[in-house]
Amino acid sequence: MKKQIAIDGPAASGKGTIARGLARALNFAYLDTGLLYRAVAQRLLQGAESRAVVVARSLVRADIQDLHDLRVLEDLGLRHPAVSAKASEVAAESEVRSVLRGLQRDFADNPPADKSGAILDGRDIATVILPNAACKIFVTAAVVVRARRRLADLEAANFGGTESVPTLEDLRADLQARDLRDETRADSPLRRDSGALLLDTGEQSVAESIAEALAYARDCLNLAD
Ligand code: CDP
Repeated sequence: MKKQIAIDGPAASGKGTIARGLARALNFAYLDTGLLYRAVAQRLLQGAESRAVVVARSLVRADIQDLHDLRVLEDLGLRHPAVSAKASEVAAESEVRSVLRGLQRDFADNPPADKSGAILDGRDIATVILPNAACKIFVTAAVVVRARRRLADLEAANFGGTESVPTLEDLRADLQARDLRDETRADSPLRRDSGALLLDTGEQSVAESIAEALAYARDCLNLAD
């Protein structure tokens, strides 16, 4: 059985921070699946092509041929708020999801030889992409906490100082709109898998969240401490 960890949760809940912490501690390969939807959204916003599924197919064919050479996903612009909103629209399209599904499963099934397993984070990892993952974690936090965190991220990035940063209230409204769309779409909605650990990071430091997730992961992967 492949060693796989599935992490899901709403926007800005801390999934990525926890996934990176676990990947480092356990020497697992890590894929932030939101970046795949963001990459499709960014190319649509750039306007060369108008159908999301066509963009998704070309992304899979051309840019991300080698699953572990994901430099295309390191573009800072993928985190832009306009891209976030478009990504959640694109992610509601079944054809797009189906094009990206194989890529995510390949990544999880074929970690590089020097890695001990794979961690994926997203919205439907435990429920759809890797239903047999050994460990499943659902990360959450109150929306106001998530909005504050996202504001701090955006202030830190500030896209070269060229942009005005949204207000806390705008961010909160954006997160809520995106969560609602992610939770209510017909295909692969955001929901907690019944087998997933619920990790509420609202009152925790980053170190505390990672420690709790790591203790759980060692247990479900049958690793000694
Ligand atoms: O970083 P943040 O939590 O704000 O977003 P993200 O994880 O990068 O995901 C961006 C958007 O992609 C989400 O709002 C979802 O609509 C979509 N997504 C998805 O549908 N399924 C996934 N496995 C990952 C992301």
